[in-house]
Amino acid sequence: MTPSDVKATLSFSDGSPNIDLPIYKGSVGPDVIDIRKLYAQTGKFTYDPGFLSTASCNSSITYIDGDKGELLYRGYPIEQLATNCDFLDTCHLLLYGELPNAQKKADFDKLVTNHTMVNEQMQFFLRGFRRDAHPMAVMTGLVGGMSAFYHDSTDINNPEHREIAAIRLIAKMPTLVAMAYKYSIGQPLIYPRNDLGYTANFMHMMFATPCEKYEPNEVLVRAMDRIFILHADHEQNASTSTVRLCGSSGTNPFAAIAAGVACLWGPAHGGANEAALNMLEEIQRNGGVEKVGEFIKQVKDKNSNVKLMGFGHRVYKNYDPRAKLMRETCHEVLNALGLHDDPLFKLAMALEKIALEDEYFVARKLYPNVDFYSGIVQRAIGIPVNLFTAIFALARTVGWIAQLNEMIGDPEYKIGRPRQLFVGSNSRDVKPLAQR
Ligand code: CMC
Repeated sequence: MTPSDVKATLSFSDGSPNIDLPIYKGSVGPDVIDIRKLYAQTGKFTYDPGFLSTASCNSSITYIDGDKGELLYRGYPIEQLATNCDFLDTCHLLLYGELPNAQKKADFDKLVTNHTMVNEQMQFFLRGFRRDAHPMAVMTGLVGGMSAFYHDSTDINNPEHREIAAIRLIAKMPTLVAMAYKYSIGQPLIYPRNDLGYTANFMHMMFATPCEKYEPNEVLVRAMDRIFILHADHEQNASTSTVRLCGSSGTNPFAAIAAGVACLWGPAHGGANEAALNMLEEIQRNGGVEKVGEFIKQVKDKNSNVKLMGFGHRVYKNYDPRAKLMRETCHEVLNALGLHDDPLFKLAMALEKIALEDEYFVARKLYPNVDFYSGIVQRAIGIPVNLFTAIFALARTVGWIAQLNEMIGDPEYKIGRPRQLFVGSNSRDVKPLAQR
C-alpha cells in the first residue's frame, strides 16, 4: 500500500489530543484512512454497520466504479472480457492475475477438466436431502461436505494446496449443481464429459439423460458462459466478505466457500435473480404490462414493503454494466429460440422503461442490476427458477477462492474480528429462580 503525503487529523471537542491517521492511496478509487491504531491511541472504535465506509482489506482483483458503472477484473473491463474471453480465461485471470496465452489456456482448461468428477461418496450426501429441498440448501451441504474428502488440499498455509483446492472447486461446482438439479427431478445423475468445454459440459450434465444425448446449442452455451463471466467476482460483497472472514480463522477452504454459498442465498444478494423472476411472473399472472403502473405505485409506497427486485445496488449508482451485457444476451437467446415475443421479456422492458423515467428511482439512482435480465435468460435456457442462485454460486466460486487465496497470501492478514458498540445491560447478578 502506498502512503499518501496527506494525513487525516482527528480532533475531539472534549479537549482530548488530536491524532494523525495515515492515508493510503489505491491505484484507482477512493483513498483509505488507516484506523488500525485508533483504539490503541484513543480507546475508541469506529462505528460502521453494513461497512458503508469501511475497506475491510486491500485487494488487486476486482475494481468497481459505482458512479461510472464500471467493473474491472484485474484491470480489464467486463465488456471486453464478456466479448473476447470465455469463463475459464476469466478464472485464470482472477486466480493468477493474467489472461492465459494459448499454451497456458490449453494447460489450464485441461487441468480443470481433469477435476470435474466428484468422489462417488458425494451422492450419498445428496441422497440424504428431501427431493424438494432448495438447491441452495443442497449446495451449502455438498460444498461443505467436500471438506471431508480432499485431505491433500486443505492446508491453507501451503500455496500448492491452495491452488489445487481452487482448481477442484472451480471444476466440481458445475457437477454439484447439476447433481442437485437431477436429484430434484428424480433423473439419474449424469457424469461429466471431458470432450466438452466447461460450460457445454455443465449443460450436458444438466440436460442429458442416459437415453438421450445433449447436443450443445452454441448460442445457449455462450449465453450461459457469459452469465458465469459476469458473476465471477464483484469485490468485497456480502458473500465474498463472508468467505474472507470465515477463511481468516484458517478453516478448510471448502468450508469457507460453503459459508459463501450460504450467504449468497439471501434475496438481497444472489437470491435476487430468483426473486426478480418470481416478481415478473407474479405481475404477469396479475394482468401483465397493463398492471406495471400499479406495481410501481406499490414499490414506491414505503408501507408496502414491496421492492423492485433486480433494481438497485449498494455500489452501482448508475446502470450496472453487467445488466447491459445481460440485456444483449437476453435478445440473442430469445431470438435463437424464436421467443422474441416472450411476454416476461416484454414486461421486464416495460418495467425498466417506467422505472428509469420515474422520479422515485431517478432520485435514488436505482438502475437495473445483472439479476433483472439473467433470470429471463436462464429460464429460456431451461434452468428452473429455484436453481438460479446455485448457478450464481457456481460462477462466483472462482471469485471467492481467488479472494480467499489473496487474503491468506497477504503477510499482514489477521483473523477477522469486528468490534461493537455495546448498548445492553451493565453487569448484574443472577437471582435464584424463585425471585426472578
Ligand atoms: N426497489 C425500491 N426501492 C428501492 C430498491 C428497490 N429495488 N432498492 C433500494 N430502494 C430504495 C430504498 O428503499 C431506499 O429508499 P429511501 O432512501 O427512501 O429509504 C433507497 O432506495 C436506498 O436503498 P438502500 O436500501 O439504502 O440501498 P442499499 O445499498 O442498502 O441496498 C440493495 C442495495 C441491492 C440491497 C437494494 O437495492 C435491494 O434490495 N434491491 C433489490 C434486490 C436486488 O436486486 N439485489 C441484487 C443486487 S445485485 C446482485 C448481487 O451483487 O448480489
